[in-house]
Amino acid sequence: DQQERGELLKAYELVARVYRSILMNTAQGRDALSYLRTRGMSDELLETFQIGYAPNMWDALVKQLEKSGFKLPLMDQGGLVSAKSDGQGYVDKFRDRVMIPIHDAKGRVIAFGGRAMGDVQPKYLNSPESLLFHKSRSLYNLHRARAEIRKREQAVLFEGYFDVIRAWDAGVHHGVATMGTALTKEHAEALKRLTGEVVVCYDGDNAGQAAAYKSIAILEQAGLSVKIAMLEGGKDPDEYIAAYGKDRFVREIIEGAVTTTKFRLVYARRNVRLQDEADRLRYLRGAVKLISELASPIEREHYLRDLSSEFGISIETLKQDVAQHLLRKE
Ligand code: CTP
Ligand code: MN
Ligand code: MN
Ligand code: MN
Ligand code: MN
Repeated sequence: DQQERGELLKAYELVARVYRSILMNTAQGRDALSYLRTRGMSDELLETFQIGYAPNMWDALVKQLEKSGFKLPLMDQGGLVSAKSDGQGYVDKFRDRVMIPIHDAKGRVIAFGGRAMGDVQPKYLNSPESLLFHKSRSLYNLHRARAEIRKREQAVLFEGYFDVIRAWDAGVHHGVATMGTALTKEHAEALKRLTGEVVVCYDGDNAGQAAAYKSIAILEQAGLSVKIAMLEGGKDPDEYIAAYGKDRFVREIIEGAVTTTKFRLVYARRNVRLQDEADRLRYLRGAVKLISELASPIEREHYLRDLSSEFGISIETLKQDVAQHLLRKE
């Protein structure tokens, strides 16, 4: 209910402040701070994103929350502490993790993403669904990005926290992320309320590209036009910026975002050995079919020209193939 929500919001606000202070001002936070430095995080970025650290203790939060008068069963329900298995009291939920606050549309902390620093599993521990937090509706960084999304009439959609943060550092202030869940209709509708265009910039690995492929229909269903920022070589945006720099990321990846048709044509080639004649023909037939589904003759010709020059097949022949597809559809 409302009162519990209010209590939980206050607790999250307090906890975010405590984690932040432990990271910046205590010896306990030192390793976390150097970890963040190796990931390219300046003090300014850490401040902007309110990043903190949950110490390697069982009861740091439990004590702090009790002292401040919060009821631990509610804190448990809210995902900040966990009841001990023997039923005797509570322990902190997050230990020895870099803590990334997740905010609601009004900029209030409603959850955390906790990044382990070693090889500890899971790599990220996120707050559970609660009175405040619903993963299928929340987009990381939406409250900071909102104004810029409106201004640029575009949003950039990432997979992860550090992708958003590094991109922000590169001047991309209209980036948001779906924290590890598949993009939902609710996410797409939230974006549609702010803008008409989304650039999908998912990880360059197979999982990321497959997720990007799936996101297209969901975004288009919501009435958004979609572009795809493609990362080659399996890197994610954070890794790309670390390797090649901010400018190249903005110029080549974000500004170089391609149409969904171009992306589908590239995606269709991912397991194709183009030197194999049968594979090549199968790819070409699939590509022509995809192009024949475009409503605009100008667009069809545009992509057919690319195919024609790459595969040395005349544009007339390709157009005949398209005509056959169109006939079959009637
Ligand atoms: N994620 C999660 N739980 C995991 C792994 C991932 O919630 N065990 C979410 C996080 O929000 C993460 C996003 O999914 O940011 C993308 O996953 P992945 O690409 O695996 O992580 P990165 O963001 O690249 O993490 P990092 O750069 O810190 O290694
Ligand atoms: Mn800006
Ligand atoms: Mn990934
Ligand atoms: Mn990633
Ligand atoms: Mn990453």
